[in-house]
Amino acid sequence: MLCDDGSHTLFNDVINDTYHSRLGAVTESKHVFLKNGLFALIEKGVTEINILEVGFGTGLNALLTIQETGLPKFDHLKINYHTFETEPLSPEILGKLNYPTVVADVAGVIFSLIHNDKWGVPFQVTTNLNFTKWKMPIQKAETIKDKLPAFNLIYFDAFAPNNQPEMWETPVFELLYGLSCPQCRLVTYCAKAQVKRNLKAADFKVTAAPGPPRKREMIIAEKIA
Ligand SMILES: C[S@@+](CC[C@H](N)C(=O)[O-])C[C@H]1O[C@@H](n2cnc3c(N)ncnc32)[C@H](O)[C@@H]1O
Repeated sequence: MLCDDGSHTLFNDVINDTYHSRLGAVTESKHVFLKNGLFALIEKGVTEINILEVGFGTGLNALLTIQETGLPKFDHLKINYHTFETEPLSPEILGKLNYPTVVADVAGVIFSLIHNDKWGVPFQVTTNLNFTKWKMPIQKAETIKDKLPAFNLIYFDAFAPNNQPEMWETPVFELLYGLSCPQCRLVTYCAKAQVKRNLKAADFKVTAAPGPPRKREMIIAEKIA
C-alpha cells in the first residue's frame, strides 16, 4: 500500500491495522522514533544508546536508525539495537516494499542484512551499531534479561490500542520500565489518554509532543528514577 509520502506500508488483515500511518511510513518513523527518540538523546550528549524496539515488522525503524547513524559525524556513538517480533514477515512480502529505494539504502544492502540476520544472535551491522532480533513476544523479554542491556531508548511501535489492546496495558509498560535504566525515553506514535494513564501507572513521566504531519500529538514517556 502506497502512503502519502511515497513510501509503502502493509495492512495486517487479522489485526485490521496498518504497520504505519497511511499518511507516510517513512515520515512517521523519522518524526516519532528518530527525531523525538534517537536524536533527542544524541542532542543531550548521550553516546551509548541501547534501543529496545517493540514490533520489528517491516524493519523500517531499524533501517532508518542504521542509515542515519552511519554518517561519519556519528562515529563516536555506540548503539545496541534489540527488536522483538512475534510474526516475521515473509521474504515475498518484504520484497515488495520500496524501502531500499525510498531510504536510499544502496541496493537494499542493510534492508536484506537485518531481515536475513539470524534470530537471537547479535550482529554488527555498521561500525557503531550492533543489532539483535528476538522472535518472541515482548511480554517474554524477562526470560532473556541476562542477554539484554539496560535500555535508554524504547521505540514502542505496536499495532494501535483499538486493534491490539493488550500491548498497551500497564503490565507491559511495567515490564519495559524494569528493562530500562534511569532517564530512559520511550516514544510512540499513539497519543490516547488511556495509554498515557497506563504509562503513568507504570511510573513513567508522560509528556505529549507534536505528532507527525496531520497528527496532533504523540507520547514521550521518561523513567525518572
Ligand atoms: C505497527 S507494526 C510494526 C511496525 C514496525 N516497527 C515497522 O516499522 O514495520 C507492529 C508489529 O508488532 C508485532 N507484534 C505483535 N505482537 C507483538 C508482541 N507481543 N511482541 C512483539 N511484537 C509484536 C507485529 O507482528 C507487528 O510486526
